Amino acid sequence: MSPYLYNLAKKFLFCLDPETAHKVTLAGLRTAEHLRMLPALVGNKPVSDPVTVMGLQFPNRVGLAAGMDKEANTVAAFGQLGFGFVEVGTLTPRPQPGNPKPRLFRCIPQQAIINHMGINNPGVDEGVENIRRTRRFKGVLGVNISKNKVTPNAEAHQDYLACLRAVWDVADYVAINFSCPNVPNLQDLAKADSAADLLSLMKSEQANLSSETGRYVPLVMKVSPDMSEAQIRDLAHVFQDCQLDGLICTNTTTTREGVEDSPHASQSGGMSGKPLYNRANETLAAFAQELQGSIPIIGVGGITTPEDAVNKIKAGASLVQLYSGFIYGGPPLVHAAARAIRDHFAG
Ligand code: FNR
Repeated sequence: MSPYLYNLAKKFLFCLDPETAHKVTLAGLRTAEHLRMLPALVGNKPVSDPVTVMGLQFPNRVGLAAGMDKEANTVAAFGQLGFGFVEVGTLTPRPQPGNPKPRLFRCIPQQAIINHMGINNPGVDEGVENIRRTRRFKGVLGVNISKNKVTPNAEAHQDYLACLRAVWDVADYVAINFSCPNVPNLQDLAKADSAADLLSLMKSEQANLSSETGRYVPLVMKVSPDMSEAQIRDLAHVFQDCQLDGLICTNTTTTREGVEDSPHASQSGGMSGKPLYNRANETLAAFAQELQGSIPIIGVGGITTPEDAVNKIKAGASLVQLYSGFIYGGPPLVHAAARAIRDHFAG
């Protein structure tokens, strides 16, 4: 897609409030995909740069981060926009409405977003049904899962296990979200002891499901960028001990570094986009240092240029994901990032 065409669409979409713009965009993408108009609108074919990570074949190394396709019904369209993989959700066992609106804010000069959506989603059963109905995507499909807001942390494992069972047949990998800052106390599950308990239960259910179905679905944990060095070290050891299959670095930050002057800085919740870049990269580099290549890392947080994407790879990521950068840069960024990473590996 030419940057000109995307900028025109963006001008219109940015006149709408962010959540309406999100809904309109996804509905438009589904319609264009259904009418087979997307390839012509996008212009370029998805970049081909096949790579195997976690035993899965990715057509290229650029993915869509969780939270964009919360209902898991727009996967095919995102594939046609050039993403090599799409992570849908977060899905929870039961549907939940999320926090009261407004809960999504653009900090345009900073290319950032602040959200306290609160994991609004249709519930895992509807999510799975949507995937079955609309998948038509040759890339890799990740399904991101979490607990319901009302489930106490002591019972969280039951929610994660129920979601794992529900999505097993449709997911290429499953991402465990225990780092969303918009669910009260969720990040307590990232303390080393709690993480070890949860992960060993998930890994043993993964083994059961694998032997029942003859299919291995990798388990990936998504971490916060707001952890101390000691926390990162402890978690890295847990991940290695439990033989975690992959790691996503990172979710949104509760800091307001870089958006202090924005009228939305006082909104609660997670911040993403350009100002998150350094913090997310430091977390990525710290995990890479601890893990020494033993667990593949998906780098996400603040990518707004192709060079940012390459630098995530240089910091230790095998794959990258976009969210806010995609809002501000659109499909041209997806293609440019995938090309830049391909060129990086080609030397
Ligand atoms: C998110 N993100 C997110 N992550 C997740 O694991 N589950 C979710 O449901 C959501 N929802 C969500 C909504 C909105 C509006 C935003 C902006 C972000 C986090 C997202 O996947 C990503 O980790 C961060 O946004 C950092 O990447 P970017 O945006 O800086 O590229």
